[in-house]
Amino acid sequence: MIKEQDNIKHVQGKTAGEVMVRLVDLHKSFGRNHVLRGMNLEVGANENVVVIGRSGCGKSVLIKCIIGLVTPDSGSIYVFGEDITKFKRKALIKLRSDIGFLFQSNALYDSLNIRENLLFTLQRRHKELSSKEMTMRMEEVLQNVGLPGIESLMPSELSGGMKKRIALARALILKPKLMLYDEPTTGLDPITSREISQLMAHLKDEYKMPSIIISHDLQCVEITADRIVALIDGVAAANGTWKELSKSADPRVNSFFK
Ligand SMILES: Nc1ncnc2c1ncn2[C@@H]1O[C@H](COP(=O)(O)OP(=O)(O)O)[C@@H](O)[C@H]1O
Ligand SMILES: [Mg+2]
Repeated sequence: MIKEQDNIKHVQGKTAGEVMVRLVDLHKSFGRNHVLRGMNLEVGANENVVVIGRSGCGKSVLIKCIIGLVTPDSGSIYVFGEDITKFKRKALIKLRSDIGFLFQSNALYDSLNIRENLLFTLQRRHKELSSKEMTMRMEEVLQNVGLPGIESLMPSELSGGMKKRIALARALILKPKLMLYDEPTTGLDPITSREISQLMAHLKDEYKMPSIIISHDLQCVEITADRIVALIDGVAAANGTWKELSKSADPRVNSFFK
């Protein structure tokens, strides 16, 4: 059994850069299921933080709290310096427009080509952009995800890895201030998974934006994580680099790395 004190020793990872996200003592229950039990998390402007934890431990709930899709029972959620638990609908919608998401399902529109998929939200949110500026943004983002010139293809013509890149491009074209990834490499073969992970690591510098990544995929964790937080029993039970956590004395933590 790990004593409370031992847990605290692990929670020492330092935030890199100005704090962009800070979760303080977050609690969330669904009926009798007490999922988050005092979760704390900090993400700085210059880091990709990976949250690991067993299936069903509350990782997706955590991410949903950050964009206001799930309301916590108690605790504070500071995003870009403001406590979003106090936000009304309109402010939440505005907040979400500064955050990019990539989830397991790519959710591309099958009947639209890549150009239309990429411009769909941009056209609605940025009416001030000329069509030339939109095309430039599209070309830039396709270049940045390694798929220049494919705008006239349909989603059905793309491989799984390419679809993932386009889903990523669709988030990036809005120039988010924070990226959230929920199991981004699930369902991809190991080589494609590695390429997507390398791209995610690279985008942090290219777009100067931090991210929170939820992943089971050890290769993805290793490539993308500046820091890893282990969500165990509803709290951040460990916080540190790959090297630190894989050598953790806590078997609940080091077992993730085997
Ligand atoms: N909207 C909901 N209503 C009821 N229970 C939920 C809801 N969302 C999540 N849960 C429960 O919360 C727990 C954590 O879920 P989730 O965050 O999706 O886990 P994971 O760590 O695998 O992403 C699970 O037991 C799940 O069943
Ligand atoms: Mg999940």
